[in-house]
Amino acid sequence: MSSVDQHGNPVSFTHQPAIDALDRAFGLLHAYQADPLAAVDQILADHPDFLMAHAFRAGMLATATDKAFEPELVRSVQAAEALLSQGNARERGHVAAVRAWLDGDWERATEHWGRVSIAYPRDLPALQFAHVGDFFLGSSHLLRDRVARVLPHWHADVHGHGFVEGMYAFGLEEAGDYAQAESRGRAAVERNPQDGWAVHAVAHVMEMQGRATEGAAFLADTADGWAPNSLFAFHLWWHKALFHLDGGDADSALRLFDENIAAGGFGQALELLDGSSLLWRLSLLGCPVGERWNGLSERWATRLDDAYYAFNDVNAMLAFVGAGDRPAQARQLDTVRRAAAGTGTNALMSREIGVPACEGLVAFGRGDYALAIDRLLPLRAKANRFGGSHAQRDLFSWTLTEAAIRLGDRPLADAFVAERLSCKPASPLNRAWATRAQALATPG
Ligand SMILES: [Fe+2]
Repeated sequence: MSSVDQHGNPVSFTHQPAIDALDRAFGLLHAYQADPLAAVDQILADHPDFLMAHAFRAGMLATATDKAFEPELVRSVQAAEALLSQGNARERGHVAAVRAWLDGDWERATEHWGRVSIAYPRDLPALQFAHVGDFFLGSSHLLRDRVARVLPHWHADVHGHGFVEGMYAFGLEEAGDYAQAESRGRAAVERNPQDGWAVHAVAHVMEMQGRATEGAAFLADTADGWAPNSLFAFHLWWHKALFHLDGGDADSALRLFDENIAAGGFGQALELLDGSSLLWRLSLLGCPVGERWNGLSERWATRLDDAYYAFNDVNAMLAFVGAGDRPAQARQLDTVRRAAAGTGTNALMSREIGVPACEGLVAFGRGDYALAIDRLLPLRAKANRFGGSHAQRDLFSWTLTEAAIRLGDRPLADAFVAERLSCKPASPLNRAWATRAQALATPG
């Protein structure tokens, strides 16, 4: 005997109120609203044999990309595997995914969720976990195409359709189809103002198109919808700070760091890395960030030996360089090199991106701008391999531009500025860099 969830997906557990409660927990995750983990814990307290609830809990913990959550991830994966004999094919796919993630093979994990999503096109958690996996793997086109695979199975009167549209909008944006991304993202926000991921997709479009004033206003105008109870608000505030920086308003960006990003206490790696990358940008612009680097690097220091995800390691290094903490820089370099010598997805990311990025950032911090450029420039072609968005990885372009200007290398500075201006010709930030580059002596 088998049951189904709200989208008709088969569930081996047969207690319908528990299945309905899990559907509600799914809904919280899809909107990035608090707190799907607490919701599933409550379900499992009453129904410890609910296989799909364990698999869902494990999926959330895995895709937090935070080693601090690993003990709980282990617990959930083991609990799910212990129940596997009563599971159906869909549930076995979910469990195979979280097992692969736990074993360090994020690509295989993402493909397992992807196969579940193909076999059960209305399995929204499978689609979202695969989508987030694609994000952490830097698979820009799959962010779009994996969602496209299931679109024929969704339409406007199916509950949850807006979440599919929001994911598709973000995929379209990362793949460069800004017009379609914006219209679909806006439609999803209109349908559900709490849909933080759809808001995020629209913000990314504006970021990529240099619509800084409009982007800051869009986030301010929609915040009443997504900000209350959001587990993702810090990242949307980070985007608003980027808009302010692009418009030359560092004070507003710094205020967002203090009031909306740091104020949360940096409870998870995702918050820490937004804090790091914002302070790094502010510092590059010469904005005095004071003691903020120290507070941030102290939080990162508790994760110094994680070697869990190269993207986190590089963002931790920003803080150690910003704080001028050379012992921590050396230890972080050891960590990322150790990760590079290992096996699995993170080893690959660490080898290709993590090690040279950390070396380049340390060199930048010591004023060795030539070495920084030597390490960071080749990453422009392949930085997607350690995940994140175009907007996040723009930090490399910022750092290279600033390094070239500080080095006094006019051709390099001109080249980096030209690259930036080609995408955002009206950006006050880019124009300020252009002015500084033009003041450099031309080579004789
Ligand atoms: Fe983003």
